[in-house]
Amino acid sequence: MEIKVKVGSIKRIRADAIIMCVYENMKRPRGDLSIVNKALGGAISDLLHNGEIKGKLAEITVIHTLGKITADRVITVGLGKRNELTADKVRSAAAEICRALKNKGVKRAAIVALGTCSGMLNPREAGQAIAEGVILGSYAFRKHLTAKDEGEHIETILIVDRSRAVVTSVQQGVTEGTILAEATNLARDLVNEPGNYMTPTSLAAEAVKVAEKYKMPIQVYDREEIQKMGMGAFLGVAQGSDQPPKFVVMKYKGNENNDIDIALIGKGLTFDSGGISLKPAADMGDMKGDMAGAASVIAAMNAIAQLKPGVNVMAIIAATENMPGGRALKPADVLVAMNGKTIEVDNTDAEGRLTLADAVSYANKQGAKRIIDIATLTGGVVTALGDVTTGGFTNNQELLDAVIKAGNEEGDKIWQLPLFDEYKEQNKSDVADIKNSGGKAASPITAALFIAEFIGNTPWVHLDIAGTSDISKTRGYYTKGATGVPTRTLVKLVTSLGK
Ligand code: BES
Ligand code: MN
Ligand code: ZN
Repeated sequence: MEIKVKVGSIKRIRADAIIMCVYENMKRPRGDLSIVNKALGGAISDLLHNGEIKGKLAEITVIHTLGKITADRVITVGLGKRNELTADKVRSAAAEICRALKNKGVKRAAIVALGTCSGMLNPREAGQAIAEGVILGSYAFRKHLTAKDEGEHIETILIVDRSRAVVTSVQQGVTEGTILAEATNLARDLVNEPGNYMTPTSLAAEAVKVAEKYKMPIQVYDREEIQKMGMGAFLGVAQGSDQPPKFVVMKYKGNENNDIDIALIGKGLTFDSGGISLKPAADMGDMKGDMAGAASVIAAMNAIAQLKPGVNVMAIIAATENMPGGRALKPADVLVAMNGKTIEVDNTDAEGRLTLADAVSYANKQGAKRIIDIATLTGGVVTALGDVTTGGFTNNQELLDAVIKAGNEEGDKIWQLPLFDEYKEQNKSDVADIKNSGGKAASPITAALFIAEFIGNTPWVHLDIAGTSDISKTRGYYTKGATGVPTRTLVKLVTSLGK
Protein backbone atom coordinates (compact mmCIF):
# COMPACT_ATOMS: atom_id res chain seq x y z
CA MET A 1 0.00 0.00 0.00
CA GLU A 2 1.16 3.47 -0.86
CA ILE A 3 0.17 6.77 0.75
CA LYS A 4 0.45 9.71 -1.62
CA VAL A 5 -0.27 13.41 -1.15
CA LYS A 6 -1.43 15.58 -4.04
CA VAL A 7 -2.79 19.02 -4.88
CA GLY A 8 -6.26 18.75 -6.38
CA SER A 9 -9.99 18.95 -5.93
CA ILE A 10 -11.53 15.96 -4.18
CA LYS A 11 -14.57 16.24 -6.44
CA ARG A 12 -12.56 15.55 -9.58
CA ILE A 13 -10.35 12.73 -8.33
CA ARG A 14 -10.45 9.40 -10.13
CA ALA A 15 -10.69 6.81 -7.39
CA ASP A 16 -12.78 3.86 -6.28
CA ALA A 17 -13.84 5.94 -3.30
CA ILE A 18 -13.36 9.38 -1.81
CA ILE A 19 -13.35 9.70 1.95
CA MET A 20 -14.64 12.79 3.73
CA CYS A 21 -15.16 13.64 7.37
CA VAL A 22 -18.35 14.43 9.26
CA TYR A 23 -18.78 15.60 12.85
CA GLU A 24 -21.36 15.02 15.52
CA ASN A 25 -24.28 17.50 15.51
CA MET A 26 -23.32 18.73 12.07
CA LYS A 27 -26.35 20.58 10.67
CA ARG A 28 -25.24 20.81 7.06
CA PRO A 29 -22.17 20.04 4.96
CA ARG A 30 -19.50 22.73 4.59
CA GLY A 31 -16.44 23.23 2.39
CA ASP A 32 -15.47 20.24 0.24
CA LEU A 33 -18.30 18.17 1.71
CA SER A 34 -20.81 20.76 0.58
CA ILE A 35 -19.39 20.73 -2.96
CA VAL A 36 -19.64 16.94 -3.14
CA ASN A 37 -23.10 17.02 -1.53
CA LYS A 38 -24.37 19.37 -4.24
CA ALA A 39 -22.92 17.19 -6.97
CA LEU A 40 -24.74 14.21 -5.43
CA GLY A 41 -28.05 16.08 -5.40
CA GLY A 42 -28.09 16.58 -1.62
CA ALA A 43 -27.55 12.91 -0.66
CA ILE A 44 -25.22 13.75 2.22
CA SER A 45 -27.40 16.48 3.71
CA ASP A 46 -30.38 14.07 3.56
CA LEU A 47 -28.44 11.45 5.52
CA LEU A 48 -27.37 14.08 8.05
CA HIS A 49 -30.98 15.25 8.39
CA ASN A 50 -32.57 11.87 8.91
CA GLY A 51 -29.84 10.92 11.38
CA GLU A 52 -28.37 8.08 9.35
CA ILE A 53 -25.04 9.88 9.52
CA LYS A 54 -24.46 10.78 13.17
CA GLY A 55 -20.80 11.69 12.95
CA LYS A 56 -19.81 9.47 15.87
CA LEU A 57 -16.13 8.58 15.99
CA ALA A 58 -15.18 6.02 13.32
CA GLU A 59 -18.77 5.73 11.99
CA ILE A 60 -18.56 4.74 8.33
CA THR A 61 -21.24 5.47 5.69
CA VAL A 62 -20.90 4.38 2.08
CA ILE A 63 -22.74 6.35 -0.64
CA HIS A 64 -22.68 5.23 -4.30
CA THR A 65 -22.25 8.18 -6.66
CA LEU A 66 -23.90 6.57 -9.75
CA GLY A 67 -21.69 8.56 -12.11
CA LYS A 68 -22.49 11.98 -10.64
CA ILE A 69 -18.81 12.56 -9.79
CA THR A 70 -15.69 10.80 -11.03
CA ALA A 71 -15.23 8.60 -7.94
CA ASP A 72 -17.46 5.51 -7.63
CA ARG A 73 -18.25 6.00 -3.95
CA VAL A 74 -18.21 8.65 -1.27
CA ILE A 75 -17.41 7.28 2.16
CA THR A 76 -18.03 9.52 5.15
CA VAL A 77 -16.19 8.90 8.38
CA GLY A 78 -17.33 10.31 11.71
CA LEU A 79 -14.79 12.15 13.82
CA GLY A 80 -16.95 12.79 16.88
CA LYS A 81 -17.41 16.28 18.31
CA ARG A 82 -15.67 18.91 16.22
CA ASN A 83 -14.08 20.80 19.12
CA GLU A 84 -12.91 17.60 20.81
CA LEU A 85 -10.95 16.24 17.87
CA THR A 86 -7.43 14.91 18.55
CA ALA A 87 -4.72 13.31 16.45
CA ASP A 88 -5.48 10.05 18.24
CA LYS A 89 -9.09 10.09 17.05
CA VAL A 90 -7.91 10.65 13.47
CA ARG A 91 -5.54 7.69 13.92
CA SER A 92 -8.44 5.48 15.08
CA ALA A 93 -10.76 6.71 12.33
CA ALA A 94 -8.10 6.09 9.66
CA ALA A 95 -7.66 2.52 10.92
CA GLU A 96 -11.43 1.95 10.74
CA ILE A 97 -11.54 3.39 7.21
CA CYS A 98 -8.86 0.96 6.07
CA ARG A 99 -10.76 -2.02 7.36
CA ALA A 100 -13.92 -0.76 5.63
CA LEU A 101 -12.03 -0.23 2.35
CA LYS A 102 -10.62 -3.74 2.51
CA ASN A 103 -14.11 -5.16 3.17
CA LYS A 104 -15.60 -3.31 0.21
CA GLY A 105 -12.71 -4.26 -2.05
CA VAL A 106 -11.69 -0.63 -2.62
CA LYS A 107 -8.21 -0.49 -4.11
CA ARG A 108 -7.65 3.21 -4.70
CA ALA A 109 -9.10 5.73 -2.27
CA ALA A 110 -8.74 9.48 -2.02
CA ILE A 111 -9.11 11.20 1.32
CA VAL A 112 -9.23 14.76 2.60
CA ALA A 113 -6.70 15.78 5.28
CA LEU A 114 -8.93 14.58 8.14
CA GLY A 115 -9.20 17.01 11.00
CA THR A 116 -7.79 20.02 9.19
CA CYS A 117 -11.29 21.06 8.08
CA SER A 118 -12.19 21.66 11.74
CA GLY A 119 -8.95 23.53 12.38
CA MET A 120 -8.26 21.20 15.32
CA LEU A 121 -5.20 19.63 13.66
CA ASN A 122 -2.58 21.31 11.57
CA PRO A 123 -1.81 19.67 8.21
CA ARG A 124 1.44 18.07 9.45
CA GLU A 125 -0.33 16.45 12.41
CA ALA A 126 -3.17 15.28 10.18
CA GLY A 127 -0.75 13.72 7.68
CA GLN A 128 1.11 11.91 10.45
CA ALA A 129 -2.06 10.64 12.12
CA ILE A 130 -3.58 9.41 8.85
CA ALA A 131 -0.41 7.57 7.88
CA GLU A 132 -0.11 6.01 11.33
CA GLY A 133 -3.78 4.97 11.45
CA VAL A 134 -3.68 3.47 7.97
CA ILE A 135 -0.43 1.54 8.42
CA LEU A 136 -1.10 0.39 11.99
CA GLY A 137 -4.77 -0.43 11.34
CA SER A 138 -4.08 -2.66 8.35
CA TYR A 139 -1.49 -4.76 10.18
CA ALA A 140 -1.98 -8.52 10.41
CA PHE A 141 0.50 -11.25 11.31
CA ARG A 142 0.09 -13.89 8.61
CA LYS A 143 3.62 -15.22 8.40
CA HIS A 144 2.82 -18.78 9.39
CA LEU A 145 -0.50 -19.13 7.54
CA THR A 146 -0.04 -21.18 4.39
CA ALA A 147 -3.37 -19.93 2.93
CA LYS A 148 -3.10 -16.59 1.12
CA ASP A 149 -5.10 -13.60 2.35
CA GLU A 150 -8.24 -13.87 0.16
CA GLY A 151 -9.35 -10.29 0.73
CA GLU A 152 -8.64 -7.36 -1.56
CA HIS A 153 -5.62 -5.19 -0.89
CA ILE A 154 -5.68 -1.42 -0.79
CA GLU A 155 -3.21 -0.16 -3.35
CA THR A 156 -3.16 3.59 -2.77
CA ILE A 157 -4.47 6.12 -0.32
CA LEU A 158 -4.28 9.57 -1.88
CA ILE A 159 -4.54 12.56 0.43
CA VAL A 160 -5.88 15.51 -1.51
CA ASP A 161 -6.00 19.21 -0.74
CA ARG A 162 -6.40 22.29 -2.91
CA SER A 163 -3.54 24.23 -1.28
CA ARG A 164 0.07 23.49 -2.19
CA ALA A 165 1.27 24.69 1.24
CA VAL A 166 -1.10 22.29 3.00
CA VAL A 167 0.03 19.44 0.76
CA THR A 168 3.69 20.11 1.60
CA SER A 169 2.98 19.99 5.35
CA VAL A 170 0.75 16.92 5.05
CA GLN A 171 3.56 15.18 3.16
CA GLN A 172 6.03 15.91 5.97
CA GLY A 173 3.59 14.39 8.45
CA VAL A 174 3.01 11.35 6.23
CA THR A 175 6.75 10.75 5.93
CA GLU A 176 7.26 10.86 9.70
CA GLY A 177 4.09 8.91 10.47
CA THR A 178 5.11 6.20 8.01
CA ILE A 179 8.50 5.77 9.70
CA LEU A 180 6.88 5.61 13.15
CA ALA A 181 4.11 3.21 12.13
CA GLU A 182 6.39 0.89 10.17
CA ALA A 183 8.71 0.73 13.16
CA THR A 184 5.73 -0.15 15.37
CA ASN A 185 4.74 -2.92 12.95
CA LEU A 186 8.32 -4.23 13.06
CA ALA A 187 8.02 -4.48 16.86
CA ARG A 188 4.67 -6.28 16.38
CA ASP A 189 6.24 -8.78 13.99
CA LEU A 190 9.00 -9.60 16.47
CA VAL A 191 6.57 -10.00 19.38
CA ASN A 192 4.05 -12.10 17.43
CA GLU A 193 6.77 -14.51 16.32
CA PRO A 194 6.64 -17.74 18.36
CA GLY A 195 9.52 -18.73 20.60
CA ASN A 196 10.83 -21.48 18.35
CA TYR A 197 11.52 -18.85 15.69
CA MET A 198 12.28 -15.91 17.99
CA THR A 199 15.18 -17.32 20.03
CA PRO A 200 17.74 -15.08 21.76
CA THR A 201 19.99 -15.69 18.75
CA SER A 202 17.33 -14.58 16.25
CA LEU A 203 16.35 -11.58 18.40
CA ALA A 204 20.00 -10.49 18.33
CA ALA A 205 20.06 -11.11 14.57
CA GLU A 206 17.03 -8.81 14.16
CA ALA A 207 18.89 -6.09 16.04
CA VAL A 208 21.93 -6.62 13.80
CA LYS A 209 19.71 -6.32 10.71
CA VAL A 210 18.45 -2.89 11.83
CA ALA A 211 21.94 -1.75 12.84
CA GLU A 212 23.50 -2.79 9.53
CA LYS A 213 20.73 -1.23 7.46
CA TYR A 214 21.40 2.17 9.01
CA LYS A 215 25.12 1.69 9.72
CA MET A 216 24.81 1.84 13.50
CA PRO A 217 27.56 0.16 15.53
CA ILE A 218 26.38 -3.00 17.29
CA GLN A 219 27.94 -5.62 19.56
CA VAL A 220 26.46 -9.03 20.32
CA TYR A 221 28.14 -10.63 23.34
CA ASP A 222 27.85 -14.40 23.84
CA ARG A 223 27.73 -16.44 27.04
CA GLU A 224 31.49 -16.44 27.61
CA GLU A 225 31.78 -12.67 27.20
CA ILE A 226 28.72 -12.14 29.38
CA GLN A 227 30.48 -14.23 32.03
CA LYS A 228 33.62 -12.09 31.71
CA MET A 229 31.56 -8.96 32.28
CA GLY A 230 30.33 -10.55 35.52
CA MET A 231 26.63 -10.55 34.72
CA GLY A 232 25.72 -13.23 37.25
CA ALA A 233 22.06 -12.25 37.51
CA PHE A 234 21.43 -12.37 33.76
CA LEU A 235 23.40 -15.62 33.43
CA GLY A 236 21.47 -17.17 36.30
CA VAL A 237 18.27 -16.83 34.28
CA ALA A 238 19.95 -18.10 31.11
CA GLN A 239 21.58 -21.18 32.66
CA GLY A 240 18.46 -23.38 32.41
CA SER A 241 18.05 -22.97 28.66
CA ASP A 242 19.67 -24.79 25.75
CA GLN A 243 19.36 -21.59 23.73
CA PRO A 244 22.48 -19.49 24.28
CA PRO A 245 21.90 -16.00 25.74
CA LYS A 246 22.91 -12.85 23.85
CA PHE A 247 23.73 -9.42 25.23
CA VAL A 248 23.12 -6.80 22.56
CA VAL A 249 24.40 -3.20 22.54
CA MET A 250 23.49 -0.93 19.61
CA LYS A 251 24.44 2.74 19.30
CA TYR A 252 22.99 5.70 17.47
CA LYS A 253 25.15 8.79 17.27
CA GLY A 254 23.19 12.02 16.85
CA ASN A 255 25.71 14.57 18.09
CA GLU A 256 29.45 15.15 18.36
CA ASN A 257 29.69 14.61 22.13
CA ASN A 258 30.73 11.26 23.48
CA ASP A 259 27.93 11.28 26.04
CA ILE A 260 25.28 8.61 26.01
CA ASP A 261 22.29 10.95 26.34
CA ILE A 262 19.92 8.07 26.90
CA ALA A 263 20.03 4.28 27.23
CA LEU A 264 16.96 2.32 26.11
CA ILE A 265 16.87 -1.09 27.78
CA GLY A 266 14.31 -3.69 26.68
CA LYS A 267 13.45 -6.89 28.54
CA GLY A 268 14.34 -9.66 26.11
CA LEU A 269 12.85 -12.93 27.37
CA THR A 270 12.11 -14.80 24.14
CA PHE A 271 10.12 -17.28 26.23
CA ASP A 272 9.28 -17.20 29.93
CA SER A 273 8.09 -20.59 31.20
CA GLY A 274 8.68 -19.39 34.75
CA GLY A 275 11.63 -21.76 35.13
CA ILE A 276 11.53 -24.14 38.12
CA SER A 277 8.79 -21.89 39.59
CA LEU A 278 6.87 -23.06 36.53
CA LYS A 279 3.88 -21.08 35.27
CA PRO A 280 0.46 -22.79 34.91
CA ALA A 281 -0.29 -24.22 31.44
CA ALA A 282 -3.19 -21.86 30.67
CA ASP A 283 -2.00 -18.93 28.56
CA MET A 284 1.66 -19.85 29.00
CA GLY A 285 2.03 -19.35 25.25
CA ASP A 286 1.51 -15.62 25.79
CA MET A 287 5.01 -15.64 27.21
CA LYS A 288 6.44 -15.78 23.67
CA GLY A 289 5.87 -12.03 23.90
CA ASP A 290 8.07 -11.52 26.95
CA MET A 291 10.58 -9.79 24.70
CA ALA A 292 8.16 -6.97 23.77
CA GLY A 293 10.34 -4.42 25.57
CA ALA A 294 13.34 -5.48 23.49
CA ALA A 295 11.24 -5.41 20.32
CA SER A 296 10.12 -1.84 21.01
CA VAL A 297 13.72 -0.77 21.57
CA ILE A 298 14.97 -2.37 18.32
CA ALA A 299 12.04 -0.84 16.45
CA ALA A 300 12.58 2.58 18.01
CA MET A 301 16.24 2.49 16.90
CA ASN A 302 15.03 1.69 13.39
CA ALA A 303 12.92 4.88 13.37
CA ILE A 304 15.52 7.00 15.18
CA ALA A 305 18.14 6.12 12.56
CA GLN A 306 15.81 7.50 9.88
CA LEU A 307 14.57 10.60 11.72
CA LYS A 308 18.10 11.51 12.90
CA PRO A 309 17.50 13.45 16.15
CA GLY A 310 20.59 15.14 17.64
CA VAL A 311 20.76 12.73 20.56
CA ASN A 312 23.17 9.88 21.35
CA VAL A 313 21.26 6.69 22.11
CA MET A 314 22.42 3.31 23.40
CA ALA A 315 20.04 0.36 23.03
CA ILE A 316 20.63 -2.60 25.35
CA ILE A 317 19.01 -6.04 25.32
CA ALA A 318 19.77 -8.99 27.55
CA ALA A 319 18.16 -11.79 25.53
CA THR A 320 17.47 -15.24 26.95
CA GLU A 321 14.82 -17.87 27.60
CA ASN A 322 13.63 -18.76 31.11
CA MET A 323 13.38 -22.56 31.22
CA PRO A 324 13.26 -25.34 33.81
CA GLY A 325 15.83 -28.13 33.58
CA GLY A 326 18.71 -29.86 35.30
CA ARG A 327 20.92 -26.83 35.10
CA ALA A 328 18.20 -24.30 35.86
CA LEU A 329 18.21 -21.74 38.63
CA LYS A 330 16.40 -22.90 41.77
CA PRO A 331 14.42 -20.99 44.38
CA ALA A 332 16.74 -19.96 47.23
CA ASP A 333 19.82 -19.85 44.96
CA VAL A 334 21.99 -16.77 45.47
CA LEU A 335 23.38 -14.84 42.49
CA VAL A 336 26.05 -12.13 42.28
CA ALA A 337 25.07 -9.30 39.94
CA MET A 338 27.49 -7.33 37.76
CA ASN A 339 27.67 -4.50 40.31
CA GLY A 340 28.59 -6.96 43.10
CA LYS A 341 25.19 -7.03 44.80
CA THR A 342 23.96 -10.44 45.94
CA ILE A 343 20.43 -11.55 45.10
CA GLU A 344 18.37 -14.32 46.67
CA VAL A 345 16.22 -16.01 44.04
CA ASP A 346 12.90 -16.22 45.84
CA ASN A 347 11.00 -17.14 42.66
CA THR A 348 12.59 -18.14 39.34
CA ASP A 349 9.58 -16.61 37.55
CA ALA A 350 10.70 -13.14 38.67
CA GLU A 351 13.42 -13.41 36.01
CA GLY A 352 12.93 -10.16 34.10
CA ARG A 353 14.27 -8.00 36.90
CA LEU A 354 17.35 -10.26 37.17
CA THR A 355 18.21 -9.70 33.51
CA LEU A 356 17.44 -5.98 33.82
CA ALA A 357 19.63 -5.60 36.91
CA ASP A 358 22.73 -6.42 34.88
CA ALA A 359 21.59 -4.51 31.79
CA VAL A 360 21.07 -1.43 33.97
CA SER A 361 24.49 -1.86 35.64
CA TYR A 362 26.03 -2.07 32.17
CA ALA A 363 24.32 1.19 31.11
CA ASN A 364 25.53 2.89 34.28
CA LYS A 365 29.08 1.62 33.76
CA GLN A 366 29.01 3.07 30.24
CA GLY A 367 27.99 6.41 31.76
CA ALA A 368 24.45 6.72 30.42
CA LYS A 369 22.96 10.08 31.44
CA ARG A 370 19.41 8.76 31.45
CA ILE A 371 17.95 5.25 31.45
CA ILE A 372 14.55 4.06 30.25
CA ASP A 373 13.74 0.39 30.69
CA ILE A 374 10.75 -1.20 28.99
CA ALA A 375 9.60 -4.56 30.29
CA THR A 376 6.68 -7.00 30.33
CA LEU A 377 7.52 -7.26 34.00
CA THR A 378 4.53 -8.15 36.17
CA GLY A 379 1.12 -9.78 36.14
CA GLY A 380 0.19 -7.24 38.79
CA VAL A 381 0.25 -4.35 36.33
CA VAL A 382 -2.26 -6.25 34.17
CA THR A 383 -4.54 -6.58 37.20
CA ALA A 384 -4.19 -2.87 38.00
CA LEU A 385 -4.29 -1.23 34.55
CA GLY A 386 -5.51 -3.93 32.15
CA ASP A 387 -4.47 -3.83 28.49
CA VAL A 388 -5.12 -0.09 28.11
CA THR A 389 -2.47 1.64 30.20
CA THR A 390 1.25 1.15 30.73
CA GLY A 391 2.57 1.52 34.28
CA GLY A 392 5.23 4.22 34.64
CA PHE A 393 7.78 4.52 37.48
CA THR A 394 10.59 6.98 38.04
CA ASN A 395 13.22 8.52 40.29
CA ASN A 396 13.04 11.69 38.20
CA GLN A 397 9.64 13.33 37.70
CA GLU A 398 10.77 15.54 34.84
CA LEU A 399 11.90 12.54 32.79
CA LEU A 400 8.69 10.57 33.38
CA ASP A 401 6.62 13.65 32.53
CA ALA A 402 8.47 13.86 29.22
CA VAL A 403 7.77 10.15 28.57
CA ILE A 404 4.07 10.54 29.41
CA LYS A 405 3.83 13.57 27.11
CA ALA A 406 5.48 11.65 24.26
CA GLY A 407 3.00 8.83 24.93
CA ASN A 408 0.04 11.22 24.80
CA GLU A 409 1.18 12.49 21.41
CA GLU A 410 1.41 8.98 20.05
CA GLY A 411 -1.64 7.39 21.68
CA ASP A 412 0.30 5.22 24.16
CA LYS A 413 -1.33 5.72 27.57
CA ILE A 414 1.00 5.72 30.58
CA TRP A 415 0.01 6.17 34.24
CA GLN A 416 2.41 6.73 37.10
CA LEU A 417 2.59 4.38 40.09
CA PRO A 418 4.50 5.29 43.27
CA LEU A 419 7.89 4.12 44.52
CA PHE A 420 7.43 4.93 48.22
CA ASP A 421 10.27 3.71 50.45
CA GLU A 422 7.88 1.65 52.61
CA TYR A 423 7.53 -0.91 49.79
CA LYS A 424 11.28 -1.65 49.91
CA GLU A 425 10.68 -3.74 53.03
CA GLN A 426 9.11 -6.46 50.83
CA ASN A 427 12.33 -6.97 48.86
CA LYS A 428 14.50 -7.61 51.94
CA SER A 429 16.31 -10.92 52.20
CA ASP A 430 17.88 -12.69 55.20
CA VAL A 431 20.61 -14.35 53.15
CA ALA A 432 21.51 -11.81 50.45
CA ASP A 433 21.48 -8.04 49.82
CA ILE A 434 18.04 -8.24 48.19
CA LYS A 435 15.56 -10.86 46.97
CA ASN A 436 13.99 -10.98 43.55
CA SER A 437 10.34 -11.11 44.62
CA GLY A 438 8.44 -8.93 47.02
CA GLY A 439 5.35 -11.14 46.93
CA LYS A 440 1.93 -10.48 45.46
CA ALA A 441 1.03 -7.18 47.12
CA ALA A 442 1.97 -4.18 44.98
CA SER A 443 4.09 -6.47 42.77
CA PRO A 444 4.62 -3.91 39.96
CA ILE A 445 6.03 -1.50 42.56
CA THR A 446 8.36 -3.94 44.31
CA ALA A 447 9.57 -5.13 40.89
CA ALA A 448 10.38 -1.53 39.93
CA LEU A 449 12.08 -0.95 43.29
CA PHE A 450 14.25 -4.00 42.65
CA ILE A 451 15.50 -2.45 39.39
CA ALA A 452 15.97 0.89 41.17
CA GLU A 453 18.58 -0.78 43.42
CA PHE A 454 20.83 -1.08 40.36
CA ILE A 455 20.05 2.36 38.96
CA GLY A 456 21.69 4.52 41.61
CA ASN A 457 21.18 8.21 40.94
CA THR A 458 20.86 8.09 37.16
CA PRO A 459 17.57 9.68 36.02
CA TRP A 460 15.43 6.65 35.19
CA VAL A 461 12.00 5.65 33.96
CA HIS A 462 10.64 2.11 34.08
CA LEU A 463 7.69 1.19 31.86
CA ASP A 464 5.81 -2.00 32.74
CA ILE A 465 4.11 -3.04 29.50
CA ALA A 466 2.92 -6.51 30.62
CA GLY A 467 -0.69 -5.46 29.97
CA THR A 468 -0.32 -3.23 26.93
CA SER A 469 2.16 -5.13 24.75
CA ASP A 470 -0.47 -7.58 23.57
CA ILE A 471 -4.27 -7.31 23.25
CA SER A 472 -6.89 -9.98 22.54
CA LYS A 473 -9.33 -7.77 20.60
CA THR A 474 -8.66 -5.08 17.97
CA ARG A 475 -9.16 -1.53 19.29
CA GLY A 476 -8.83 1.19 16.66
CA TYR A 477 -5.29 1.16 15.29
CA TYR A 478 -4.19 -1.32 17.96
CA THR A 479 -4.78 -4.57 16.08
CA LYS A 480 -5.18 -7.77 18.08
CA GLY A 481 -2.00 -9.51 19.13
CA ALA A 482 1.16 -7.50 19.64
CA THR A 483 0.62 -3.73 19.82
CA GLY A 484 4.21 -2.54 19.35
CA VAL A 485 3.79 -0.38 22.48
CA PRO A 486 5.70 1.87 23.28
CA THR A 487 7.80 2.13 20.09
CA ARG A 488 6.48 5.51 18.91
CA THR A 489 6.63 6.95 22.42
CA LEU A 490 10.32 6.09 22.68
CA VAL A 491 11.08 7.73 19.35
CA LYS A 492 9.12 10.88 20.28
CA LEU A 493 10.87 11.03 23.65
CA VAL A 494 14.34 10.76 22.13
CA THR A 495 13.40 13.38 19.53
CA SER A 496 12.13 15.71 22.27
CA LEU A 497 15.46 15.44 24.12
CA GLY A 498 17.19 16.81 21.03
CA LYS A 499 15.05 19.96 20.97
N1 BES B 1 6.77 -12.09 32.17
C1 BES B 1 6.12 -12.14 33.41
C2 BES B 1 5.08 -11.04 33.61
C3 BES B 1 3.89 -11.05 32.70
C4 BES B 1 2.67 -11.54 33.16
C5 BES B 1 3.93 -10.51 31.44
C6 BES B 1 1.56 -11.52 32.35
C7 BES B 1 2.82 -10.50 30.62
C8 BES B 1 1.63 -11.00 31.08
C9 BES B 1 7.13 -12.02 34.55
O1 BES B 1 8.37 -12.56 34.29
C10 BES B 1 6.58 -12.73 35.74
O2 BES B 1 6.46 -13.92 35.67
N2 BES B 1 6.27 -12.01 36.81
C11 BES B 1 5.75 -12.58 38.00
C12 BES B 1 6.64 -12.20 39.14
C13 BES B 1 6.30 -12.87 40.44
C14 BES B 1 6.70 -14.33 40.38
C15 BES B 1 7.02 -12.19 41.57
C16 BES B 1 4.34 -12.01 38.22
O3 BES B 1 4.16 -10.80 38.06
O4 BES B 1 3.45 -12.79 38.50
MN1 MN C 1 8.46 -14.62 34.75
ZN1 ZN D 1 8.92 -12.65 32.29
